[in-house]
Amino acid sequence: MKVLEAQFVKDFTKMCHDGYMQGWHEGNGGNISYRMRESEVENVREELNESGEWKEIGGPVPGLANEYFVMTGSGKFLRNVELDFADTCCIVKVNEDGTKYKVVWGLVNGGRPTSELPAHLMNLESLKARDPELRIVYHCHSPKVTALTFVLPMDEVIWTRELWEMVSECSIFFPQGVGLVEWMMPGSYEISKASAEIMKTKNVVIWVHHGMFACGHTFDETFGLMHIVEKAASILVDVISMGGVKRQAISVENFRAIEKVFGVHFDEKYLYERKSNKVGEY
Ligand code: 13P
Ligand code: ZN
Repeated sequence: MKVLEAQFVKDFTKMCHDGYMQGWHEGNGGNISYRMRESEVENVREELNESGEWKEIGGPVPGLANEYFVMTGSGKFLRNVELDFADTCCIVKVNEDGTKYKVVWGLVNGGRPTSELPAHLMNLESLKARDPELRIVYHCHSPKVTALTFVLPMDEVIWTRELWEMVSECSIFFPQGVGLVEWMMPGSYEISKASAEIMKTKNVVIWVHHGMFACGHTFDETFGLMHIVEKAASILVDVISMGGVKRQAISVENFRAIEKVFGVHFDEKYLYERKSNKVGEY
């Protein structure tokens, strides 16, 4: 089978399109990775060229040794993925000790995988250890979440509770809450390591003054998660714009009812009785 005929290429392309339509991918902003199933690798094996040179990943991922990943290219516009997948994306293979990668397909006009390759692979390694079917990592430049990183305190508990209160479904979509990474250099080992630490337990990582990472089992699930977090952030920005004081909100009692009805579990740290009805305060 040709790579371009594979279902994962169609799903990957759709997510690039959908994210672009949301306004999350200005210029080359954002990147995506997908950890391929063995059967998917075998199906396209005839098109893979293993003769390329090994390059340093920039962070070891022994848990992903010998695996294959679909990725966007560095500097490529996600807008253009649907126009020319083979120019904008690639398949990379990780070596036997998880320290190096090589491009085995794609980027036909040159280039390299996303500069966030270490963050993607290190996140995917955390996810594989948690649940082998969590295969997708999605990074976008989500404007409302980023706006909030200038005004909300650097406190994961406050962030989680504020976002949960914005839409009933939020706590069901991300019951583990969101994690925060303070400003660090994009593409660095440090920002990748901090993200991968959060992805050991959470599906959403916010990069302060930059954007967001979300993960999932399927492209729809991953995109939907990103969408609901950004939607909640957008409503929170509106609430802050209207003065930032809530007259009423989803209560602790309501969250406990959601836990029962939807069979989800929330960490008690998020279910505190609020002393303040102002956004960003306990
Ligand atoms: P790349 O073009 O290298 O993927 O970088 C885009 C980006 O969003 C960096 O954080
Ligand atoms: Zn980015």
